[in-house]
Amino acid sequence: MVNKPSKPTDSLIGNDNWNIQLDRNGRLKHFLTVEGLGSEILTSILDTAESFANVNEQRVKKVPILRGKTIVNLFFEASTRTRTTFELAAKRLSADILNINISTSATTKGESLLDTLQNLQAMLCDMFIVRHSDSGAAHFIASHVAPHISVINAGDGWHAHPTQAMLDMFTIRRFKGDFGNLRVAIVGDLLHSRVARSQIHALNTLNTGDVRVIAPRTLVPNDIEDMGVKVYHDLAKGVKDADVIIMLRLQKERMQGALLPSEHEYYSEYGLTEDKLKAAKDDAIVMHPGPINRGVEIESSVADGPRSVILNQVTYGIAVRMAIMSMVLGREPEAEISGEEQ
Ligand code: NCD
Repeated sequence: MVNKPSKPTDSLIGNDNWNIQLDRNGRLKHFLTVEGLGSEILTSILDTAESFANVNEQRVKKVPILRGKTIVNLFFEASTRTRTTFELAAKRLSADILNINISTSATTKGESLLDTLQNLQAMLCDMFIVRHSDSGAAHFIASHVAPHISVINAGDGWHAHPTQAMLDMFTIRRFKGDFGNLRVAIVGDLLHSRVARSQIHALNTLNTGDVRVIAPRTLVPNDIEDMGVKVYHDLAKGVKDADVIIMLRLQKERMQGALLPSEHEYYSEYGLTEDKLKAAKDDAIVMHPGPINRGVEIESSVADGPRSVILNQVTYGIAVRMAIMSMVLGREPEAEISGEEQ
């Protein structure tokens, strides 16, 4: 299954199988998707992340919560921010972390994914953090690992990127407060964006007032309106009076055929420039999961400007990943988060 093409299918998305991420008491065992999780769990992740954000501001940025645990970063796809912030998060929780470089691992000698996993299990690991180009890969791994192992999805194909969505929710809550009063506009390549899918689920679950997407017709999934969002094809109309604008990268590596006239034309219609930003509220924030492509989806002066919180997202990613890792490994972090302990 994990070797098939990466377009999400109904059998992988929106069915009850995702419930494997909860244990019998409704607590997180794996973190595979935001879909199907209630507002209580999402809010509890955000609240726990607040405590870890405080830890990250201390002189000694470390707590002993996951001491003795072994975590494996298993990235089958490129990553800068996600892999390194997971690594930092694990280290700040005092876990041991291994980074497996797939391009130099035995996968290149023909070892199957399940055999690789079994070998890592034999090394008595506790958690796999998985990024894979196939939708459903993290779910597949979670349903094949030993019962004591937890899996976190760090991005699977076009399907989901739940930790990114949660760090985005954390950023929105920190800068804008209550979701109920907010207008959030997501702009760009919705069709290929696992980030946007997870964001929309999270924004809906947290009862966001108005969630809208803005993209050319060729880059909007057919079923997007079923997710309860309004669709715009005109940037000026879509970002009007927005509180939050989330820009997405054009995921050219996932595009088949000519979905776009040219980057230049895309930028002139959908690139967020200082001029286009004027339609949003005066205090609107601008977000982007990265990597950003300056002059393709966003003007440099906007990316680096006073409304941009793009680097705050990166910083908060550590606290949010610390929260999710500690919750998934089944501890009660509140009891152990304290001052400069070490
Ligand atoms: C995103 C991803 O990999 O899905 N990036 C990230 O994790 N920060 C978005 C992207 O690649 O454009």
